[in-house]
Amino acid sequence: MIVESLNTLIERIIEDRTLITGTLSQLRKKEGATYTKVGVKPVQLKNGLHYQFAYYTGTQVEHRNMPAESAADELSSLLGDTFRQGLLCTAEADYQVLISKKQKATVLTKPPTKKAVADLSHNRRKQYVLEEGEPVPFLIELGIMSDSGKVLAKKYDKFRQINRFLEMVEDVLTSLPQGRPLTIVDFGCGKSYLTFALYHYLAIREKRELSIVGLDLKADVIAHCSALAVKLGYDKLRFLVGDIADYNELDRVDMVVTLHACDTATDAALEKAVRWGASVILSVPCCQHELFAQIDNEIMEPLLSHGILKERFSALATDAIRAKLLDLMGYRTQLLEFIDMEHTPKNILIRAVKSGSGDSGAKWREYAAFRDFLGAKPYLERACADLLPGEAESRSN
Ligand SMILES: C[S@@+](CC[C@H](N)C(=O)[O-])C[C@H]1O[C@@H](n2cnc3c(N)ncnc32)[C@H](O)[C@@H]1O
Repeated sequence: MIVESLNTLIERIIEDRTLITGTLSQLRKKEGATYTKVGVKPVQLKNGLHYQFAYYTGTQVEHRNMPAESAADELSSLLGDTFRQGLLCTAEADYQVLISKKQKATVLTKPPTKKAVADLSHNRRKQYVLEEGEPVPFLIELGIMSDSGKVLAKKYDKFRQINRFLEMVEDVLTSLPQGRPLTIVDFGCGKSYLTFALYHYLAIREKRELSIVGLDLKADVIAHCSALAVKLGYDKLRFLVGDIADYNELDRVDMVVTLHACDTATDAALEKAVRWGASVILSVPCCQHELFAQIDNEIMEPLLSHGILKERFSALATDAIRAKLLDLMGYRTQLLEFIDMEHTPKNILIRAVKSGSGDSGAKWREYAAFRDFLGAKPYLERACADLLPGEAESRSN
């Protein structure tokens, strides 16, 4: 296992798409090694940006392409377990990574020596999933675009948000089940800009067979969204009135989306997603009040005595708890910036992809220590108690 700061660096340069090339060398153990050096670079494939790993053995080289989320894991594990040196080149800096015998990582930041490949950086940075100038029916109906495809000036932030969301979806396409229709639920869909965007992107552009359900408490909003789905001919998009916690209509759901659902409504959605074993969860939490009322810790008094700091800290701690609990329930969880802070402070997206279960004993102890330090009793832990290892089990691991 390598230190967190290196993992954070790797996640950031993969997530921000700034990695240009990487080289890993100096085997930790020569005996039994299957390759002696590994190179990595981004490649634009039909199904989005991937990372190409080149594994060198003598004069032979084997290539493997991986989507972003697997690429970050592969880099971390190669640097943690196999190699002692790495050079990660980005446009802003070269990062030289040195791993000691005790697996302590040192990262030296040096001036950049590489420039991003022009056409790839164009794809990475400028091209939106939905381009201005191409009329898209749902964007026209929602008043974001004119009939000619021009984005209305005051709707530009919304347009960027929709595109950012679709980029996040693009990155997890390969984690969704292939070869069968998908079932997707959007909890707390509200006016459903992003639900319509999801349908357009997956059903129309990607031609995936699917059905999407949007659920919300507000009957008038749901009636409006249903009428719009009919008008657009989105026949596999249904909108229902209901409370997330009571929604029991489906047996299997592949992806759960919950964007800005208030307070513990997000946790209710996460619980449903985990119980369905959804392959992908995308969640942007909103107005976290639960921990604000619970947190109590004398050492943290200088921070907690200021309402504004307590509120922000409670929100961050809530997301840290959610991420850890999702990890404990078999997900690989990342917290990503959804859109720039200047547009909304509600900008953290939890992206969780179903994976194997990890070291639940140590993870649980880490989680429980954090929770107890804060004096928190989180909804998600209470709701998913039967799916979590718990104190006794963690001690026996
Ligand atoms: C801030 S809006 C977000 C709407 C939309 N997802 C978006 O990101 O634009 C939050 C929505 O969640 C809905 N909501 C809150 N609690 C809910 C619950 N327990 N069950 C269903 N919907 C809920 C609200 O009615 C509201 O429409």
